[in-house]
Amino acid sequence: MSEKDEKSTSSVDYRGLGKDVFEFFTHRTAFNSAAYLLPVLESITKSNPGLRLLDVGAGAGSVSATLAQVIGPEGHVVCTDLAPSVLPQAEAFAQSLGVTNISFQTADVHKLPFENDSFDVVHCHQLFGHVKAPSDAIREMLRVLKPGGVMAAREGDKETEIVWPPLPGMLKWHKFDSDVVIAHGGSLTAGRQLLSWALEGGAKRSQITVSYGNWLTTEEATKETYARGISKVLTGPTRQNALQFGLSEDEIDEICRDTLAWVDREDATWLMLQTEIIIRK
Ligand SMILES: C[S@@+](CC[C@H](N)C(=O)[O-])C[C@H]1O[C@@H](n2cnc3c(N)ncnc32)[C@H](O)[C@@H]1O
Repeated sequence: MSEKDEKSTSSVDYRGLGKDVFEFFTHRTAFNSAAYLLPVLESITKSNPGLRLLDVGAGAGSVSATLAQVIGPEGHVVCTDLAPSVLPQAEAFAQSLGVTNISFQTADVHKLPFENDSFDVVHCHQLFGHVKAPSDAIREMLRVLKPGGVMAAREGDKETEIVWPPLPGMLKWHKFDSDVVIAHGGSLTAGRQLLSWALEGGAKRSQITVSYGNWLTTEEATKETYARGISKVLTGPTRQNALQFGLSEDEIDEICRDTLAWVDREDATWLMLQTEIIIRK
C-alpha cells in the first residue's frame, strides 16, 4: 500500500469495540446533535419531500434514524459506517422507533460506494476527528452530493473539554479517551480545524456557513447518560480493550467510582466546543 493509500484509508478502528460503546452513543439524536441543520432540512423537505440523505460514519444510527423522522416518510436516509458489525444495531434502533424510510450499508468515507451527485444532503457527526485524512473525506462526501445539495458536519474539539469538579477518575477518563483517539491517528482539535479541512477538501469559503455550539452536561438526565455510560462501557466487554490499552484494573475502578460520584454533585459540569459547518455545493 502506498503512503497516500495508507493515509487516505486508515481511521480509528471501532470494529474491535463492543456493542456497549455504540449503545452509549444512542442518546445522540438529530435534535441534540444536528439542530444547526434542522432549519435547512425543513426548507429542503418543503421543496423536495423525496430527498435522499446520506449519513456517513453513523455508528449506532440514532442520529440517522431521527433525521429520517425529520425528513418524513417520502424522504430516504442511507445510514452507513465503516464497521459492518454496528449496522444491525443501527437497524434495530430504527425499528425500535418505527422508522422505515432508512436503509443500511457499509461504507468507508474515503471511498464511498455511490455515484457522483447522488444525494441531496450528506451528513456526518463526530467522524472527522477519527479519520487520518479529513479533507480527503470531505472531498469524497462532496463528490456524492448533488449540485445545489447540502453537506453538513459537526465535530467536537476535545482539547476544549472541561470537566468540573476535577475528580481524579474523571480526569483519567478524559486522558484515556484522548489517548485512544491519538493512538488511532485521530485529532483532538477537530472542531477548530473543521473549516480548514472543508477548504482543503475543495469547498469555497463563500459556500460554507459555520456555527459553534457545545456539548453541555449539567442537567440531571445528560449527566446520568454520560457518566453511567462510561461506567457501563468500562464494566462491559470494552473493559478488556481498556486493559489492553494500558489502564490498570484499579484505574478503571477509580474511573467508574468517580464518574458515578460526579453524577451526584450539584456542581457537576462537562462541556466541549462543537463546530458545525454547512456547505452548499
Ligand atoms: C464517534 S463515532 C460517531 C458515530 C455517530 N455519527 C454518532 O455521532 O453517534 C465515529 C464513527 O465513525 C466510524 N468511522 C471511522 N472511520 C470511518 C471511515 N473511514 N469511514 C466511515 N466511517 C468511519 C466509526 O466506525 C464510528 O461508528
